Amino acid sequence: MFEILEKERIGPGVNRAVISAPAVARAHKPGQFIILRCHQDGERIPLTVADKDVDKGTITLVWQEVGVTTYYMGTMCPGDSLIDVVGPLGTPTHIENFGTVVCVGGGIGVAPLYPITKGMYEAGNHVISILGARTEGLLIMTEDLKKVSTEQLIATDDGSFGIHGFVTQVLQGLIDKGTKIDLVVAIGPVPMMKAVVNVTRPAALPTVVSLNPIMVDGTGMCGACRVEVNGETKFGCVDGPEFDGFAVDFDLLTKRLAMYKGPELVALNKFRETPRGCECTFPEGM
Ligand SMILES: Cc1cc2nc3c(=O)[nH]c(=O)nc-3n(C[C@H](O)[C@H](O)[C@H](O)COP(=O)(O)OP(=O)(O)OC[C@H]3O[C@@H](n4cnc5c(N)ncnc54)[C@H](O)[C@@H]3O)c2cc1C
Ligand code: FES
Repeated sequence: MFEILEKERIGPGVNRAVISAPAVARAHKPGQFIILRCHQDGERIPLTVADKDVDKGTITLVWQEVGVTTYYMGTMCPGDSLIDVVGPLGTPTHIENFGTVVCVGGGIGVAPLYPITKGMYEAGNHVISILGARTEGLLIMTEDLKKVSTEQLIATDDGSFGIHGFVTQVLQGLIDKGTKIDLVVAIGPVPMMKAVVNVTRPAALPTVVSLNPIMVDGTGMCGACRVEVNGETKFGCVDGPEFDGFAVDFDLLTKRLAMYKGPELVALNKFRETPRGCECTFPEGM
């Protein structure tokens, strides 16, 4: 059992929890994820290890409530335990001193971007983080990212905070003014990662994206996480989750992510009809 030691609401429908998982904390490297189950009958879902404390034997998970399991986890409190935490899984991020690395995060993608940004910063890179959200209230972990960035730029779609516009416009601005960029890492909704690649491709800037296909076992056996990269089938869980952004078929990924939308909605509505009764209190509006 993996006890939830701390849990807080950090945005509307977004939670951060510190979980006791000493073996995972010891073995984890940036870019890796875990697969968890909340309870005996629960489904398996992948979440990125957003942070860890090896001395305390803990990992930090940050998740957005989008369906039954992530909503259920949102009702769990410190003192509750996850029945399974398997990992670390996936191929770690390739980290070295590239020179200047631009880390682009959108929405909940900022959470998985954090350990990679930290790794790049600690490797001596000049790190420019570009973080975006639809509106100010949806920005997460900006202070955490600021501590591991040489420069930070923030954009909101509605202009309520930082630059008015999309992260891609900010990135285009850096390219237009001739900023030397050696690597771009982008994590966020699939349309955002596709848009980042559309900006970096003409400038021939190497671009790594982290994909979020549906996963089941996370060990390369079930094939649920198939993605097309360079015209070849790859398994997101073992070959990824990071891939060369120029080679990814984002449209196919979008289609596959939507495959179970109908049953997922039915399950979520059923879950909402029988709430578990949460003891945690959330700040107003979250
Ligand atoms: C490697 C990886 C790392 C991820 N890290 C994070 C993270 O740090 N924070 C975060 O909020 N989300 C993360 N996700 C996405 C997260 O796994 C899904 O939001 C979650 O599985 C949804 O489950 P649900 O039961 O709440 O929703 P559902 O209603 O079951 O699904 C909602 C949508 O989530 C996606 N999804 C559903 N089941 C899975 C599954 N087993 N695997 C992957 N996607 C699924 C589908 O697009 C689906 O339409 C990650 C996904 C991957 C593949
Ligand atoms: S999740 Fe089963 S092969 Fe990747």
